[in-house]
Amino acid sequence: MPLHINRLTLSHFRSHLHVLLDADARPVVLYGPNGAGKTNLIEAVSLFSPGRGMRRASAQDMTRRPEGLGWKVGGLVETPDGLQDIAFQSENGAPRQVRINDKPAPQTRLGELVRLLWLLPSMDRLWIEGAEGRRRFLDRMTLSFFPSHGDVSLTYEKAMRERNRLLKEQVRDPMWYKALETQMAQSGAAIHSNRLKTLRRIAHAQNQASTQFPAAELELIQTEGEMPETEGDLCQALEESRFRDLAAGRTLVGPHRADLYGVFAAKGVPAADSSTGEQKALLISLVLSNARALVEDIGAAPIVLLDEVAAHLDAGRRAALYDEICALGAQAWMTGTGPELFAELGDRAQYFEVTESNQGTSIFPRSSL
Ligand SMILES: Nc1ncnc2c1ncn2[C@@H]1O[C@H](COP(=O)(O)OP(=O)(O)OP(=O)(O)O)[C@@H](O)[C@H]1O
Ligand SMILES: [Mg+2]
Repeated sequence: MPLHINRLTLSHFRSHLHVLLDADARPVVLYGPNGAGKTNLIEAVSLFSPGRGMRRASAQDMTRRPEGLGWKVGGLVETPDGLQDIAFQSENGAPRQVRINDKPAPQTRLGELVRLLWLLPSMDRLWIEGAEGRRRFLDRMTLSFFPSHGDVSLTYEKAMRERNRLLKEQVRDPMWYKALETQMAQSGAAIHSNRLKTLRRIAHAQNQASTQFPAAELELIQTEGEMPETEGDLCQALEESRFRDLAAGRTLVGPHRADLYGVFAAKGVPAADSSTGEQKALLISLVLSNARALVEDIGAAPIVLLDEVAAHLDAGRRAALYDEICALGAQAWMTGTGPELFAELGDRAQYFEVTESNQGTSIFPRSSL
């Protein structure tokens, strides 16, 4: 059974007052004018994966204004583990609560049940902007293969925040540093190893596929200096870096300094020097490869969120993308301003028109063109 959302409900989420959307396993097309609430809808879907959602917004930002009371998002989700009733809720701006089948649930369980990937217009400059965006993109792929990646990342970040606090306060007690560095080395080595395994899975999936989308050669690099790989190396590197880190007031070594280097394989040109369209094609290609690898690993394609993906593709590339999504059997949620952008999908997808009114937004199921 393909992984998909059967029913999505929103209450007081961003511009949406109340939404009930019934869907089947096919790709979901959301079209409507600018500002109608399409991206807000797929942001709600992005919450079905661990983390803060695709905009990294706070629960407070997601609360519908002007009421500002809180919000709810719910879904009946068909997963390889059966049908799950998943609900998220935030009251008065408090961090969101996750419930699965009416019981509080940890994020890792959510990550095991729902594999989810996204591509947003803000990622168009991913290859040319700072390392953070690329690291996040890599970690999102990694999380789709290793649901525990979220937890080790949180452990690492928490210990690093503590260590950075010591550094800022110019604390020099080696015992304090050692305790935190041990935690950082443990979780940091796991982060590194998960990322490397992910890159191998992606490379393998790219090599296996016949696709119209270009392959990317990917390499994990360090923004500066050496990359400690094992727990022992990381422990030692952190200890050796203390003096330098005290001067900087923050930790200068570890997996939080990693970067993803990409090359447009067919031309041997770095992704950052490729054309705008080529850069986008590389990202699409990586998401599709990731999805193919997941079909092999867990027997189901991930849910994929593609915000305004059609706008940047010519008709041929668009048709190729839709064919690949349908072949994968992925419930891809796609947005665009008009239905004509999705003509090549025909009745392989389901269509919803999103419109704004003073009652909030409305969503109407539409037949295909
Ligand atoms: N917390 C909030 N409360 C109420 N409205 C909000 C909130 N956050 C965002 N909005 C509004 O939601 C509206 C719809 O935004 P959204 O990004 O979903 O539009 P869209 O349909 O994707 O448009 P486009 O085609 O331009 O991408 C915006 O006008 C924005 O001001
Ligand atoms: Mg939008």
